Amino acid sequence: MSTAAVVLAAGAGTRMKSKRPKVAHEILGKPLVNWVIDAALEAGVEELVTVVGHAREQVEPLVEGKSRIVVQAEQRGTADAVLSCAEALADFDGSVLVLSGDCPLITANTMRELSDLREREGAAVVVLTMQPDDPFGYGRIIRGEDGQVARIVEQKDATPEEAAVIECNSGFYCFDARALFDALAKVGSDNAQGEFYLTDVLEICRDAGRKVLALEAADASECLGVNSRIQLAEAAVIAQRRINEAHMAAGVTMWDPAQVWIGPDVRIESDVELLPQTYLLGKTSVGEDTVIGPNSRLTDTQVGRGCRIDETVAVEAQIDDRATCGPRAYLRPAAHLCEGAKAGTHVEIKKSTIGAGSKVPHLSYIGDTTMGEGVNIGAGSITCNYDGKHKSPTVIGDDVFVGSDTLMVAPVEIGAGAVIGAGSVIAKNVSADALALTRPEQVEKPGWAARRREKFSQEG
Ligand code: UD1
Ligand code: CA
Repeated sequence: MSTAAVVLAAGAGTRMKSKRPKVAHEILGKPLVNWVIDAALEAGVEELVTVVGHAREQVEPLVEGKSRIVVQAEQRGTADAVLSCAEALADFDGSVLVLSGDCPLITANTMRELSDLREREGAAVVVLTMQPDDPFGYGRIIRGEDGQVARIVEQKDATPEEAAVIECNSGFYCFDARALFDALAKVGSDNAQGEFYLTDVLEICRDAGRKVLALEAADASECLGVNSRIQLAEAAVIAQRRINEAHMAAGVTMWDPAQVWIGPDVRIESDVELLPQTYLLGKTSVGEDTVIGPNSRLTDTQVGRGCRIDETVAVEAQIDDRATCGPRAYLRPAAHLCEGAKAGTHVEIKKSTIGAGSKVPHLSYIGDTTMGEGVNIGAGSITCNYDGKHKSPTVIGDDVFVGSDTLMVAPVEIGAGAVIGAGSVIAKNVSADALALTRPEQVEKPGWAARRREKFSQEG
């Protein structure tokens, strides 16, 4: 049977005290709503609809291309939010998962369990339940005399006896599509909050003689909803631990996993070692036997095998096998260190290829440069790639030796095998195998320094 998912992401999240809508807040570099969407895609849903509303201009760009988008013009409650998908799902028949966009820890596995159970039992709905330490604020599961779920009562509508129930609604469900939309048409707003409650659908289905089931979450932390910054931090710690444990189980060493933050879409091969204060974010990947850290942040960066990356910040960079970075290197977008290349201490590289075995060891800026193999760049050398308006390229051939403190004023080309004298300003192309230098004659005045000392001491 086919499965659709509706992700609810139209609410404001006032308790976040933020200009940003709640579902746009991030955990490990990924917005809350995208955690839920990616888990639904992993679960294999055929149709995915995200309901946006409050500050939707900030939510839509996060979701576009991954999910269909439906706008809930006014936030009149969770039932109204799902009803706004009626048109989008008009032709859909099967299971509909309803997912809260503010619960990032839900897994694809749990979603599949919900839809499997619903289909096996032919139920109108299966609700995922939990028993939190503090049930305050959650809807309570009220069971009938037969032990089956009779209805869900919101905190604000609960009698003292109902509020004493600890079994709670997680806010995740799997519905039979037709039963869902039939029942939604009957939901009213006669309750403490004057809202249209999705939870009323359960009672309506039961009254219609349909099966309404509960599935208890195997891991209650999957249902943790983020309503405040405190809960955002709690969810982040759980996500961090879950991800780190999976990588350790797959052969990654961490000196202290509490000091390593890995995004959910990062891939790491075995025998990688991660030192404290390491962040691997976005679509970063790391090859076997590489050591990263301490104090490193890699975003959307591809790292090969056997690399050593020490105190490095890299964004959209590529680091090939056995290359080394840092301490204190900064690789900006489109920096590419080829096999065995080096970006050393206080070195910044942008949109440049550093050829195989080439070295930029100390205090340099290399931008818009194509560098061949076996090049050595002396300490403090800089490509002057920007004239205040235009960016210009520098080309450095194989086996070039650039003396320390050289300025290469782009556009400029240095032929293979050339040597550049230290302290030069290279503004014209250099032929292969030539020596080029710009350096005034050295002047020497014998005894001058001694005479000056003598003069100073007489002045007292
Ligand atoms: C809801 C459930 C409650 C459950 C809890 C679990 C209802 C009536 N109550 O309460 O039983 O224990 O979740 O976390 O469903 N949203 C919209 N449009 C709206 C209203 C909400 O898109 O008009 C979205 C929110 O952005 C959020 C989700 O729906 O992602 C849940 O809404 P929220 O207001 O947080 O519901 P709760 O009061 O937490
Ligand atoms: Ca909530």
